[in-house]
Amino acid sequence: MIAKTGGATRTTDRTVDWDRGAIVAIDQCALPHDYRMLRIETVDDLIDAIVRLAIRGAPALGAAGALGVALLAQQYPGDVTTVRHDAERLAVARPTAVNLRWGVTRALAALDRGPRAVLDVALAVLDEDERVNRQASGRAADLIRTLVPRRPLRLLTHCNAGRLATVAWGTALGVVWHLAATGDIEYVLADETRPLLQGARLTAYELAEAGVPYRILPDSAAATAMSLGMVDCVVVGADRVTRNGDVANKIGTYPLALAAARHDVPFIVVAPESTVDNTITDARDIVIEQRDAAEVTSFASVPVAPDGAPAFNPAFDVTPADLVTAIVTEDRVWRP
Ligand code: MRU
Repeated sequence: MIAKTGGATRTTDRTVDWDRGAIVAIDQCALPHDYRMLRIETVDDLIDAIVRLAIRGAPALGAAGALGVALLAQQYPGDVTTVRHDAERLAVARPTAVNLRWGVTRALAALDRGPRAVLDVALAVLDEDERVNRQASGRAADLIRTLVPRRPLRLLTHCNAGRLATVAWGTALGVVWHLAATGDIEYVLADETRPLLQGARLTAYELAEAGVPYRILPDSAAATAMSLGMVDCVVVGADRVTRNGDVANKIGTYPLALAAARHDVPFIVVAPESTVDNTITDARDIVIEQRDAAEVTSFASVPVAPDGAPAFNPAFDVTPADLVTAIVTEDRVWRP
């Protein structure tokens, strides 16, 4: 059962965490107006939270996957079959971000050693997440400083790749935190990110919280902003990167990369190594999650299209490697 708790009983600053036998997570469906925590005690409630994007963002999904296996190991001690069965249901709850299966698989590897060992692995995944995101984004900030001479910088980002999409700190927004710390940010343009508005709701929330100047723009205005010379660099996160450097990320990323190439604006992807899927050569093998038509045919739950209107609503797109200036991880700057 998911219980709502107010900010006063918040036990963690992390987006997703473990608290006395349960998973606690910031309810991202309620932001920006309501900051509340979910307390998740079953894997079914975890899957529900993931599917409705209360927990979202590739690295946060990896952490949630590992914690979900810890929950299962605690609930079914010695029942490896049930744990593995439910862990598989969890791993496929969202198919595109490879981190979810990565987190599940990592925690399952400790199953033979008992519930405590599984939890220890899951908690290690959480600790690592902030460390690798700080490293990757620091390296990306240095790269942008060398690629772009203008100061202060004007960045454009898409969806939310901040602390809310990770356990803490963020990837693309992590770059902003590094650059802002040295006074190198003039502003950030945050794509609103149709249809679920992760940019307008979550990225704007994080930028406001950090005191970084920003403006929200409709996704369709991004190319115009570039053509008007308002953007020095595009910085985004990723849900899966293939061996050849194709990048799956929130729908609308590919058109940004096309516009960036047209206007000679660097296009930088920041992600932990856990987002790189070495089992896949190129994007043809990535499963793109298709979501409910109602997300497009209604706005804030108000219908805006004729009853029953069909919709094409892929949650992610693929940016081909040749449009990517660099993919930056905690280990490398990769120019595919
Ligand atoms: O559907 P979402 O909100 O989970 O999509 C998230 C994204 O596309 C992010 O850009 C990606 O997961 C990277 S987050 C560091």
